[in-house]
Amino acid sequence: MTGFTHKLGLCPLVGVVAVIAAATSLRAEPFPANLLAPKGIEGFVTVDRLPMPRDATLQQGRAIWEDTCQACHGGNKLTGAPKITATEAWHPRLKQGLGVLFDHAINGFTGPKYTLMPARGGNEDLNDQEVEAAVRFMVWASGAGDLATE
Ligand code: HEC
Repeated sequence: MTGFTHKLGLCPLVGVVAVIAAATSLRAEPFPANLLAPKGIEGFVTVDRLPMPRDATLQQGRAIWEDTCQACHGGNKLTGAPKITATEAWHPRLKQGLGVLFDHAINGFTGPKYTLMPARGGNEDLNDQEVEAAVRFMVWASGAGDLATE
C-alpha cells in the first residue's frame, strides 16, 4: 500500500520534469513575418535567404533541409511541392498536426493531384529524427513557430 501511495505522490513531479525538459529542448521562437507570403517569398528560396534559428533542433533541420528538401520545397513548381514560406500552401497541411506531417515525410505520400513526396525526400541515409527536424524547420519557416517546436 505504501508503494502505491508513493507512486501517486511522484506523478505530479514526473509531469513537471517532463514539461521542463520539453521546454528546454525546443524553444518556440517567432519566424520573421516579413519573410512569409501567401505564395511564399519571391523566387526560388535557398536556405541562405532564411534566418538561422536559435533552437538546436531547428538548426539541425535547416542543414538537412538544405541538403535534401530544398531542391523541391524551395519552390520547384514542376514537383508540386509546397514552397517554404508559402502560408497559403502550408496552412491546410499544418492543420493535420506534426504526427501526420512526420509520417508523410518519413514514409512518403501521394497527394490528391498525384504529386509525390518521396520517402525521406529520397535520401535513405536520413533517420527518422533527422527527417522530423527538417519537417520542423520547414513548418517553422512557413508560419507555424509554435507547432514547429511542439
Ligand atoms: C522530389 C521532390 C521532393 C523532395 C526532395 C522533398 N519533398 Fe516533401 N513534398 C514533395 C511534394 C510534391 C509534396 C506534396 C505532395 C502533395 O500533397 O501532393 C511534398 C510534401 C511534403 C510535406 C507535406 C505533407 C502533407 O501531409 O501535406 C512535408 C512535411 C514534406 N514534404 C517534407 C519534406 C522533407 C522534410 C523533405 C526533405 C527531407 C522533403 N519533403 C523533400 C516533394 C518533395
